[in-house]
Amino acid sequence: MSIPCENPSFRLLGDARGSLIAVEANKDIPFAIARVYYIFGTKEGVERGFHAHKELKQVAVAVRGSCIMKLDDGKEQLDILMNDPTKSVYIAPMVWHEMREFSEDCVLLVFADQAYDESDYIRNYATFLEAIERNGGNA
Ligand code: TYD
Repeated sequence: MSIPCENPSFRLLGDARGSLIAVEANKDIPFAIARVYYIFGTKEGVERGFHAHKELKQVAVAVRGSCIMKLDDGKEQLDILMNDPTKSVYIAPMVWHEMREFSEDCVLLVFADQAYDESDYIRNYATFLEAIERNGGNA
C-alpha cells in the first residue's frame, strides 16, 4: 500500500501579465484550512521536519524554488521533488516527514486543518514506529 500523498494539481491562471493560482478549501485542498505557514530563507544544508502528526492534515507546495520532501509511513519511504507551484503534496496524519535540499529561494507554503498544537507532534522516530505498530497508524 502506498503512502497517501496525492493532491490534484492547482489550476494555473495565467495571462500576459503573469501567473496566478487560487487555492480553495475543500476543493483544491481536502479539508477546511485553519492555518497557513511558510518556510523560507532556509540556510544551506539545513534539514527540517523530522516529525509526524497524530491528527493534523497538511498540504505543502513549493511556490518558489525547490526542496525534497521525504515521506515515511513506517513501512515505505518516498522522496518527492517539490519544484512546481501547481504541484502539492498531501501529508496525512501519522506520516513522518523530513525536508532537505532547499534552494536558496525556496518558499514552501503549507496549509493545515488545525491550529498549531505541540501535543499533536511525534518528534521521536522510535516513538513514531511504536505508535504505527500499536495502532496500525492510528495514534
Ligand atoms: P518546527 O515544527 O520545528 O518546524 P519544522 O517542522 O519545519 O522543523 O517549528 C519551528 C518553530 O515554530 C517551533 O518553535 C514551533 C513554531 N511553530 C509555530 O508556532 N506555529 C506553527 O504553525 C509552526 C509550524 C511552528
